[in-house]
Amino acid sequence: MSSSEAYLPLKGKTAIVTGSSRGLGAGMAYELAKRGADVVLTYTSPSSSTLISSLSSKISLLPHKPSTHSVVADLTKVDSPDKIVQSIKDWRGGDPKIDIMVNNAGVEMNKKLGDLTAQDFAHVYDLNVRGTLLMTQAVLPYLQPHSRIINIGSVASRVGFAGFSLYCSSKAALEGLTRVWAVELGGNGTTVNMVNPGPVDSDMLKNIPKEIVEKQKGETPVEKRLGTTEEVADIVAWLAGRDSRWVTGQTISASGGWALY
Ligand SMILES: NC(=O)c1ccc[n+]([C@@H]2O[C@H](COP(=O)([O-])OP(=O)(O)OC[C@H]3O[C@@H](n4cnc5c(N)ncnc54)[C@H](OP(=O)(O)O)[C@@H]3O)[C@@H](O)[C@H]2O)c1
Repeated sequence: MSSSEAYLPLKGKTAIVTGSSRGLGAGMAYELAKRGADVVLTYTSPSSSTLISSLSSKISLLPHKPSTHSVVADLTKVDSPDKIVQSIKDWRGGDPKIDIMVNNAGVEMNKKLGDLTAQDFAHVYDLNVRGTLLMTQAVLPYLQPHSRIINIGSVASRVGFAGFSLYCSSKAALEGLTRVWAVELGGNGTTVNMVNPGPVDSDMLKNIPKEIVEKQKGETPVEKRLGTTEEVADIVAWLAGRDSRWVTGQTISASGGWALY
């Protein structure tokens, strides 16, 4: 391996990070770009376009000048994954080579069992579960050997946070998908893993009851604090690279040890 490859282990790779306008996804996209990847940034709200522009500029200022391409698409819509792929085709001028798929876009909902409606179910599952499935399916024809699929879950997938039926269970469903896809796709060296963050300061965290977050902080073995987007991004970037090639079908708790798997 040449010294430049050692410093830019993802050079020549193309990554897609869904929900990369803000929070954890923005951190992941930046870290993958720092390690050399070209990055497709997806988001859904027109109000986030300025955030995407500044992330793209920040990435293009990196010394090795990775390229970025941004796509607005609501991943609760069944045709959005194909639209994202078509937009990447237009950008690349033909069939793209995709190496890294990070399914990060997600929503939470705080509502007790008795109040949940079918619409609530669709709101959470259409993005967290169906969106992840259809997005991954859409990139399958373009995935290169030794690709990396990384699903972003939550420590919520293995605990019962009152009020979070749909969020907790949708992330548990992703763990199941991760295991099955690891088995289905492993033949050419592709790996499929999941990262379950604990609480990280972000817009999403503002909607989580303070008492849950404070309790989690107090119970976190590593320095009794929240995680940072950079800490989660480093784990995702490790999974995206060559060093993780013998790890697949795993769910990694990225929570300073709050959740021990
Ligand atoms: N923050 C935490 O403490 C924490 C902890 C555990 C797990 N997680 C998981 O980490 C992931 C990112 O969380 P976050 O805190 O960074 O979230 P966030 O700050 O709320 O950002 C969510 C991202 O997803 C995009 N998004 C939302 N709805 C979408 C839709 N229908 N279609 C396409 N994109 C959509 C948003 O785009 P716009 O900007 O355009 O709205 C934004 O980029 C989620 O899967 C979440 O469950 C977060």
